[in-house]
Amino acid sequence: MKEVLDLIKQELEFAFEANGIDTKYAFVSLSNRPDLCEYQCNGALPAAKEYHKAPMEIAESIAASLESESMFESVEACKPGFLNIKLDASFIASYLNEMAKDEGRFGLEEAKNPKTVIIDYGGANVAKPLHVGHLRSAVIGESIKRLKRFVGDKVVGDVHLGDWGLQMGLIITELSLRQPDLCYFDENYEGEYPSEPPFTISDLEEIYPTASGKSKEDDEFKAAAMKATAELQQGRRGYRALLSHILNVSVTDLKKNYDSLNVEFDLWKGESDAQPYIPDMVEKMKKDGYAYISEGALVVDVKEESDKKEIPPCMILKSDGASLYNTTDLATMVWREKDYQPDEYVYVVDKRQELYFTQVFRCAKKTKIVPEDTKLTFVGFGTMNGKDGKPFKTREGGVMRLSNLISDINEKMYEKIMENETMSDEEARKTAKIVGLSAVKYGDLSNQASKDYVFDIDRFISFEGNTGPYILYTIVRMKSIITKYGSDASSYEIPVAETESEKSLQLELAKFNSAILSAYEETAPHKICAYIYDLANAFNHFYHETKILAQEDEAKKGGYIRLLTLTKDVLECCIDLLGFEAPERM
Ligand code: ARG
Repeated sequence: MKEVLDLIKQELEFAFEANGIDTKYAFVSLSNRPDLCEYQCNGALPAAKEYHKAPMEIAESIAASLESESMFESVEACKPGFLNIKLDASFIASYLNEMAKDEGRFGLEEAKNPKTVIIDYGGANVAKPLHVGHLRSAVIGESIKRLKRFVGDKVVGDVHLGDWGLQMGLIITELSLRQPDLCYFDENYEGEYPSEPPFTISDLEEIYPTASGKSKEDDEFKAAAMKATAELQQGRRGYRALLSHILNVSVTDLKKNYDSLNVEFDLWKGESDAQPYIPDMVEKMKKDGYAYISEGALVVDVKEESDKKEIPPCMILKSDGASLYNTTDLATMVWREKDYQPDEYVYVVDKRQELYFTQVFRCAKKTKIVPEDTKLTFVGFGTMNGKDGKPFKTREGGVMRLSNLISDINEKMYEKIMENETMSDEEARKTAKIVGLSAVKYGDLSNQASKDYVFDIDRFISFEGNTGPYILYTIVRMKSIITKYGSDASSYEIPVAETESEKSLQLELAKFNSAILSAYEETAPHKICAYIYDLANAFNHFYHETKILAQEDEAKKGGYIRLLTLTKDVLECCIDLLGFEAPERM
């Protein structure tokens, strides 16, 4: 279905043309004075300059041409030359009835030219616990993935594990001190390595911080860990076997964590998967004349004339020949090109890595790892702060771990649900998980990703205000009314609105496709949040002013149920795009 905005624009264009005015002035937007009108067109003001007429004169003639259009209740010319537009209630009702017929998509058309998109998000580091810094990437990336997929793109989500760094050497070194007799450390060992790992996830969770602590105080330990890292990267057999144990144990645990966040990846590739592509990539960069030696290191210049600030060269190999984070990201693009030829890459990473990604993107284009017209998008997110405005910490002052954060919220949610409900303990626990997730995700996604935000549990779990639980509460309210109605309303039509609050609700519903498409075009899940908050408010307003189940007129009651069902379905579709769901009761 066409967006309502486009349908209005179309009518305006006819009218502008009929009045001899260029249709480029027939632009329309949502009203910024909802007390006066629903949509507005300000095109008569700039048109007046071109045609040397008074803006009011143009606005009045356009309004007169549109007067009899059935889609409008009114089109008014207002000083100094605005066009204030109200839609006809029966036009909106029929638009909604069309939407309702299109189950699951509600009139949102499939993308005409679907793109192949790789989303690089999550970015957890193997063997290190997930912390709240990784929460944002997972939550935002998952939503962007769902949004793009819904619109019609072919989307591949890749977790891009950090599995190639010093943390591996630290763990190997610590393990070699604790269990020196393991075959992995015997350089002369030629047999097969055991299939069972020599540690559990809880061992790893303790080994890594211990080793990391040691390396900060003990230079010898640190040197050993760096050596082990280098040997691992050069392919030492026993260390490779340990790496795959670490990966298996960690990934199993990570999957559990991501599962509890309703986050799912198509690919579980890591930095280590890119390593085989590095030698050829580097060779080619040298051969094509892009890479040169500067102060011993191999670099590619990426600065451009229009740069306002200095963009340093992209370093490909250090002077000792070691590869870097950059090198891995570029080599990752090599295999992504080979396997997928994406039209777009989206990286959902802390915004402090923006300069870094500018270098990587430029280098990838310049050295032709990706074609010139490939879109490279960096979605940089801000920091999640505590109420004190500083990066979020535990009460004890440490970095909060994701699993603790989630269980804290679930506990609080559970207490809240138990306060005023008569649910069984089991149902309350289950509901707390569902609602708790909405609190965390909506609390994050309702902010523009690039902004820092304050993680305020008490506000996020509130059933009132701009929160996830408020949205869920609204959905649950509708579910309960629909259940109480108890029969099939599908033979009824959504009625023509008779009251202000009913019309407002219908107008909000009709904005669904515009809201989704603008979130899609701007890679901005917060726009979905803003939309559903408005929609939920419009519904609650309608609900408080309208007798629904007590309605005597059966057709009208059935029509209201249809309206409620569409509202509920649209909200549920939107929260699914945000990556959470609604319970049956709360
Ligand atoms: N593992 C990295 C970190 O924890 C994030 C990875 C981001 N993605 C990328 N392709 N570099 O900071």
